[in-house]
Amino acid sequence: MTREEALDSIRANIENKNTIKHMLATEAIMRALARRFGEDEEEWGLTGLIHDIDMELTGGDMKEHSRLGADLAREMGASEAMAHAILCHNETHGIPCETKLDKALFCADPLTGLITAAALVRPDNKLANLEAKSVRKRFKEKAFAAGANREQISKCSEIGLELDEFIELGLEAMKEIADDLGL
Ligand SMILES: [Fe+2]
Repeated sequence: MTREEALDSIRANIENKNTIKHMLATEAIMRALARRFGEDEEEWGLTGLIHDIDMELTGGDMKEHSRLGADLAREMGASEAMAHAILCHNETHGIPCETKLDKALFCADPLTGLITAAALVRPDNKLANLEAKSVRKRFKEKAFAAGANREQISKCSEIGLELDEFIELGLEAMKEIADDLGL
């Protein structure tokens, strides 16, 4: 699967622009994590990019979400490791994250929402001048971007990253594609 093929499938299956931006942001963080750990950047990036490809096909039914996604990923030529990471990123199935790739996707997914929300409450609505320490402060405010599961983000410890490090890495990764994110 090339990145272009993955993007074509996304465009064919997802209409919501924010969902696409979320997938691009997840890709950016996954690529940064892969570089950090000396893992396969293409494999990790594409896993992040397509991880919610079934969101509209499943109509948000969490019992179906990510099962179909994993099947679609396989059909698109994803490795079994990628399909497994996609499958277990939805906790509803109770399938534990086992590999580093599984765990990376699991914690990267909600971090995008926290960082996006932290940018959007700035006067300029931009990522450029957002600092990691502000995101850290928002992290502690439970009511802020409540959908960004703090416990899930904190699982970065399972891939050997402190929360501060993870937030900084995620923020820098998203800043690199700020234009694509409209932030
Ligand atoms: Fe997601």
